[in-house]
Amino acid sequence: MEFKEVVKNRYSCKKYDSRKIEKEKLEAILEAGRLAPTAKNLQEQHIYVVESEEALAKIDKATPCRYGAPVVLVVAFDKNNVFTYPGGKRDSGVEDAAIVATHLMLAAYDEGIDSCWLNFFDPDKLAEDLDLPENEEILMILDLGYAAEGAGPLENHNSRKPLEETVSYI
Ligand SMILES: Cc1cc2nc3c(=O)[nH]c(=O)nc-3n(C[C@H](O)[C@H](O)[C@H](O)COP(=O)(O)O)c2cc1C
Repeated sequence: MEFKEVVKNRYSCKKYDSRKIEKEKLEAILEAGRLAPTAKNLQEQHIYVVESEEALAKIDKATPCRYGAPVVLVVAFDKNNVFTYPGGKRDSGVEDAAIVATHLMLAAYDEGIDSCWLNFFDPDKLAEDLDLPENEEILMILDLGYAAEGAGPLENHNSRKPLEETVSYI
């Protein structure tokens, strides 16, 4: 698919049917995450493919926003392997994981798979429930699946500020 089509037509899907995601498609999505740039090429991300009934139940306990997705990706990063920027206020962890997550989300659409980025959950509680190692912090969850009949973008999908409001040439 044309990149422009991907970024224009992708939307946050909030209703999935029970169709499974083909293995090749899931692998293509994960590969796009693997190719994401990270600060100093640290690649501190860790992606958990959640597809067992047991693990999906843990997601449902953490958030009401799985919307029936048959697979979710939990994107985490290694807090002990981040690059601290000059000034010491910020480091690369959240930023790198967000780039990886964006690659995953856009690649999903390119593969014909719908998705929704989720942050409506307590990341520490979920990390504990999923038994993640102490050094890993969860950034986000990505629902993945095929949109159910009747699903579609919410009204606000096309409501974006004009460039003049968010871009300045200096
Ligand atoms: C950082 C982030 C967090 C989000 N968290 C949630 C969430 O927890 N639950 C949900 O249903 N949608 C969530 N969304 C989806 C947004 O509501 C949606 O992207 C936004 O309304 C724009 O809609 P669109 O993606 O269809 O253009 C999130 C999106 C982003 C970027």
